[in-house]
Order: sequence, then C-alpha cells, then structure tokens
Amino acid sequence: MTDTNEQTTVVRETAFDLSAYLTRQKARVEAALDASITVTYPEKIYESMRYSLMAGGKRLRPILCLATCELLGGTEPMAMPTACALEMIHTMSLIHDDLPAMDNDDYRRGKLTNHKVYGEEIAILAGDGLLAYAFEFVARETRDVPPQRVLEAIARLGRAVGAAGLVGGQVVDLESEGSPDVSERTLTYIHTHKTGALLEACVVCGAILAGASPEQVERLSRYAQNIGLAFQIVDDILDITATQEELGKTAGKDLQANKATYPSLWGLEESRRQAQRLVEQAKAELAPFGEGAAPLSAIADFITRRTN
Ligand code: FPP
Ligand code: MG
Repeated sequence: MTDTNEQTTVVRETAFDLSAYLTRQKARVEAALDASITVTYPEKIYESMRYSLMAGGKRLRPILCLATCELLGGTEPMAMPTACALEMIHTMSLIHDDLPAMDNDDYRRGKLTNHKVYGEEIAILAGDGLLAYAFEFVARETRDVPPQRVLEAIARLGRAVGAAGLVGGQVVDLESEGSPDVSERTLTYIHTHKTGALLEACVVCGAILAGASPEQVERLSRYAQNIGLAFQIVDDILDITATQEELGKTAGKDLQANKATYPSLWGLEESRRQAQRLVEQAKAELAPFGEGAAPLSAIADFITRRTN
C-alpha cells in the first residue's frame, strides 16, 4: 500500500511540467507588470521605476502568490494585483540594497543597477515610488475579493516589509557585516526576515485572497518559511559556486565582504543537506492539499536545483 502511494507520488511529481508552468506564469506576470506603470510626468522617475521592475528575474514571488490562490480555488484577477505588488516590493528592496550606502553593487539581473543608470537620488526615490505604488495597486486593482480579505492581505504585506520583516532583517545584516562570529541564531534571524518574510507573504496573501481557513493559512505559511530558508541557503551556496554570468550580479560578494553565511558556518555539503531537508519539510506541509499542490511542490524542489 505504502509502496503504491509512494510510486503514485513520484509519478505525479515527474508528470508536472514545472518549466512550462514557470514560463507561462512568468509571461502573464510580466504582461501585468508592464501594464501596471505608464511613463508620465515627471518621466525620469517612472522610467527608473520601470527600468528595475522590467529587468527580468524569475518572478518567483508573484508566481507563488498566484499558485497558492489557485490551489484554494481562487482566480487570477483575485491575486494578480497582489502578485505584482510583491514583485514591486522585491524590486524596490533590491534597488535600495544595491545603493552605495548599503551593498554598493553595480550589476543586478545582468544589467547596471538603478543608481548606476539614474543616479543615487533617483534610485532612492524609485524605490520609494515602487513601495507606495505596490499598496495603492492592491487596494485599487484587486477584483472579486471581499474587502475584509483585501485589508488582511495589505496588513500582511505591510508587516512583511517593515521593521518586523525585510527592514529588520536588513538592519541586522548590516550590523553583522564584518563581525567575526555571527551566531547561527543571528544568521537565521537575518534570513527569515530579509528573504523569508516576503516569500511567506506571497503564499499567505495568495491564500487569504482565495478565502483560506486559518488552518490552511498556517500550514501554507510553514511551507513558505521552509522554502524561504532553503532559498537563502542556496543563495549563499551560489554566491560561492556560480559565476557572475549565471547570477547576473557580482559573484563571491559574501566572502569579499566577510559576510556570515550558511556555508561559512556549516560548510558547503552540510548546507546542501540542510536546504534539501527544508524542502522535504515544506513539501510535507502540502500533503492535505492533494494534486492541486503540484506547482507549489515542484517550486520547492526547484529551489535546490536552481543555478541563479
Ligand atoms: C538582498 O540581499 C536584499 C534583500 C533581500 C532585501 C534588502 C532589504 C532592504 C534594502 C530594505 C528595503 C526597504 C524596504 C522598505 C523594504 P543580499 O544583499 O544578501 O543579496 P544580493 O547578493 O542579491 O544583493
Ligand atoms: Mg546585496
């Protein structure tokens, strides 16, 4: 009986064509992002916002939001504005992260960083503009969802971005830079906040918009926390093992900046094992959702396979 179940699971996982799914969903997200911002007066700020927003990337965050909404019976118009907002917020966090006052990076997604093209003042304002617009966009554009759910999604988004999420993680990251002995606890705080909080918001907002029960939200939130940490461990590994061409940004930055990373704490092999373990835990949370969870399950697997 167990054997049969295991076989069935394997067949289902291999039958799902993740590559085709990601290509299709990425195209839909890019079309929605493209339509979300029109260049108008003052042109420079809108061009700068569009420059980074349309610079490519995997669009994993919006895809996670759409996949979770769909898993729970929701439709694309219910979740697409929030999916776009998540990408706007992710993009603005990278624009600010790359600034000379923070990581001082010249390349992002294979292109010059925003401040290298538009100057620091405009890059700061482009980040601010994207952040504000993300919330406006969810409030104005969401369709077919009761207002209470939209409010809850906006509240979750705000929490994921602020001092309890991304901002808090970035602060501890900056404080820890160059410090000789960053503990595993501090490193986990940095990553669960700087990367994990927004990934969790993608899944949780998708679920809330679709009308998930509190138990479903909790379970999907644990799925997202696990893939969020696995994602960051893989990011640390790739900073060591991948090339600048593969990453589209400077490789080897963590070592150069003497940053604490999972490979520096555990070594490469143990880091890979931990990432795999987290992916397995994430997939276990999806069991009650059945076959509909195939995209989320395949995305979890993809996290340890990715090369950029
Ligand atoms: C990349 O990390 C940076 C982030 C994931 C987020 C950084 C957050 C901020 C700058 C706060 C932004 C402000 C708001 C209001 C959200 P990394 O430097 O480790 O990775 P990288 O190699 O891709 O740069
Ligand atoms: Mg950086």
